[in-house]
Amino acid sequence: MKRMTTRLLAGAAALTGIGTVSAAADELVYYCSAQIEWCQLMSEAFERETGIRVAMTRKSSGETYAQIKAEAANPRGDVWWGGTGDPHLQAAEEGLTEVYQSPLLEELHDWAVQQAEQSGFRTVGIYAGALGFGYNSELFEQRGWEPPSCWADLTRPEFRDEISVANPNSSGTAYTALATFVQIMGEDEAFAFLADLHQNIAQYTLSGSAPIRDAARGEVAIGIVFLHDAVTQAVEGFPIVPVAPCEGTGYEIGSMSIIQGGPNPDAARQFYDFALRADIQARAVEVKAYQVPSNRAAEAPPEAPDFDTIKLIDYDFARFGSSDERTRLLARWDAEIGSLAR
Ligand code: F6P
Repeated sequence: MKRMTTRLLAGAAALTGIGTVSAAADELVYYCSAQIEWCQLMSEAFERETGIRVAMTRKSSGETYAQIKAEAANPRGDVWWGGTGDPHLQAAEEGLTEVYQSPLLEELHDWAVQQAEQSGFRTVGIYAGALGFGYNSELFEQRGWEPPSCWADLTRPEFRDEISVANPNSSGTAYTALATFVQIMGEDEAFAFLADLHQNIAQYTLSGSAPIRDAARGEVAIGIVFLHDAVTQAVEGFPIVPVAPCEGTGYEIGSMSIIQGGPNPDAARQFYDFALRADIQARAVEVKAYQVPSNRAAEAPPEAPDFDTIKLIDYDFARFGSSDERTRLLARWDAEIGSLAR
């Protein structure tokens, strides 16, 4: 690890020109794919500390990836912060994002550094979160339903139109779910499961966390989401119970990338280093964001789902973050699930 750190630092100095003076940037175009409250906190904190004006757009992970790709000939954004790692890896593979080795890499957990190494340092892990679902315990009590504890429970007939999950094209959460089912069940079985599950889906939302907000308000009984998003609703006082499924589950390495050829590269690097700092990551709790931070010195909030008690699969980020695989799986989802009658 130490040796790797030294190598990283030498690389960082070479790549970024640390120690040289660069022109002060006064603007940053910031694409954000985490929860809006955290996006705003980051934007305001960076503006306050640096005086750099931030223009922020919040979109889901898949949507932001698609936007960056569409803008590739004339990049408008500088930095993409947050959202699941798979589309960040795809963007890296497609050369849509820039190589950068922050001097703060040495402060990060191994999983966050691995994300960087895997992408040739075009992205980096900023937080981690495990997938699961949450259910509305008041609704369950009223209806006398047995609480679900496994993925398999979600196809029970009484849950018809009672489950919400996002569309994996727009949402990194839902793509993580798709990739998780493929890894747990095998691909054909996963698509058969998704077709069964479809009978119970009230709607496929654009954003990954919308399903648990719908469950919190009693519009559906169950939302398939990252567990930290279910915890947020519980902390807000809604009757939501987070469940780590019995078969095991996948997880995300929430990531950050600098957009290739963006208008303000200096400000982008400044933001990147800022976002990796422990004191900045530790502020997530102020907006009830309960992901596990990537800086080792930033403690996970006590409410954060405890990874040690969750049966995590060995999620294959190289495969499911590759351009071919993500494109292929989404096309199969569109053809076999998205097109099913509702
Ligand atoms: O709400 C926060 C969060 O779950 C992040 O942990 C995650 O990276 C992001 O949302 C994914 O959002 P979406 O599914 O909308 O792409």
